Amino acid sequence: MKIAILGARGRLGAALVRKWGSRPKKRGEKAPHTVRAFARPELDLLDPKTIDRCLGKKEPFDWVVNCAAQTNVDACERQPEQARLVNTVAARHIAERCARTGARFIHISTDYVFDGRQRVPYDEEAAPSPLSVYGQSKADGEFGVLAALPEAIVARVSWVFGPEKASFIDMLISRALGHAKVAAIANKWSTPTYTEDLADWLGALVAADAPGGVYHLCNAGGCSWREYGEHALHCAADQGLPVKTKTVAPLEIEELEGFVAERPVYTVMSTARFTNLTKIAPRPWEDAVRDYVRDYPPY
Ligand SMILES: NC(=O)c1ccc[n+]([C@@H]2O[C@H](COP(=O)([O-])OP(=O)(O)OC[C@H]3O[C@@H](n4cnc5c(N)ncnc54)[C@H](OP(=O)(O)O)[C@@H]3O)[C@@H](O)[C@H]2O)c1
Repeated sequence: MKIAILGARGRLGAALVRKWGSRPKKRGEKAPHTVRAFARPELDLLDPKTIDRCLGKKEPFDWVVNCAAQTNVDACERQPEQARLVNTVAARHIAERCARTGARFIHISTDYVFDGRQRVPYDEEAAPSPLSVYGQSKADGEFGVLAALPEAIVARVSWVFGPEKASFIDMLISRALGHAKVAAIANKWSTPTYTEDLADWLGALVAADAPGGVYHLCNAGGCSWREYGEHALHCAADQGLPVKTKTVAPLEIEELEGFVAERPVYTVMSTARFTNLTKIAPRPWEDAVRDYVRDYPPY
C-alpha cells in the first residue's frame, strides 16, 4: 500500500513511519508499505494549501493516516481557535481531500471525547460529551471527518507511549532514578497504549480494508496513573535499573493546581469492535509496558 502519514514527527506518527516504512533488514524482504512521511514544515494543518499540495492527485495514496494534532490539552484550553483549526477544520479538510482522490483515511482521535462519568469501558456507541476544548475539538473533528467521508476510520486511542517521544512512563522512571519519593494521580483511570501495538492494529485495519466508522484501539485492561507508574517502576527494577523506589504515592486529581483544562477521570475503552473484525485481541497493558521498559532505555 502507498500510505501518507501526517504528523510524522510525533509519538505515533514517527512509530508508524518506522514500523511500516523501514527498509527490510534482510535481502529479498519487502517493507510492509511504501510510506511517505509528512511533518509540519511540509504539511501545516493551519495552511490548507499545504494539505492540498501534499495530498494532491499527482501522487495518489491508497491510505492517508492523520496522526497530527494539537495534543497539548491545556494549550488547547488557552488557544481554542488554534485547537479548532488544527483538530477540527483541518481534519475535515483532509477527509474532503481523500474523498476527492479516492484514498482511504484513518484519523486518530482520543478518549478525551468522553466525559469520564461512566464506570464501565466505553464502546463506540457511547455518546461523546467532552469536558475540554481539546476533547471538543477532537469530537468535532471526528464528526466532520465522518460527514465528509463516511468510509473514513476514526481510531480513538488513549495514554499513548512509545520510544519516539517521552511520555508519562519515561518521566516517572527518570524521576525514580533520581528521587526516592514519586507520586502520581490515583483517581483517574484509562489504558496505556503502546505505539508498537497500535501500529500492528492499524496495519490490521488497513489489511482488512475495514469498514468506515469509529474504532477504539488500546491495550487491554485499565489502571490509574499511580498503578501505571508503579508497574513501570517494577519493570525498570526487574531490568536492573537503579530506581530509588518502586512505590508511587497517591495524588488526587483535585490536588493538582497546574491543570487548566478539566480532564475526564475514567476513559477505559472497549476494543470489542476491533477484535470482532480482525480477530486480534490487544494484549494487556502490563505486558506492553514490560516490553517497552525492556527494549528501550529511559529518556
Ligand atoms: N499521546 C496520548 O496519550 C494520546 C492520547 C489520546 C489520543 N491521542 C491522539 O493520538 C494522536 C497522536 O498523538 P501523539 O501522542 O503522537 O502526539 P504528538 O507526539 O504531540 O504528535 C502530534 C504531531 O502533530 C503535529 N502538529 C501539531 N500541529 C500541527 C500543525 N499545525 N501542522 C502539522 N502538524 C502539526 C506535531 O508537530 P511538531 O512535532 O512539529 O510539533 C506533532 O508531531 C493525536 O491525534 C492525539 O490527539 C494521543
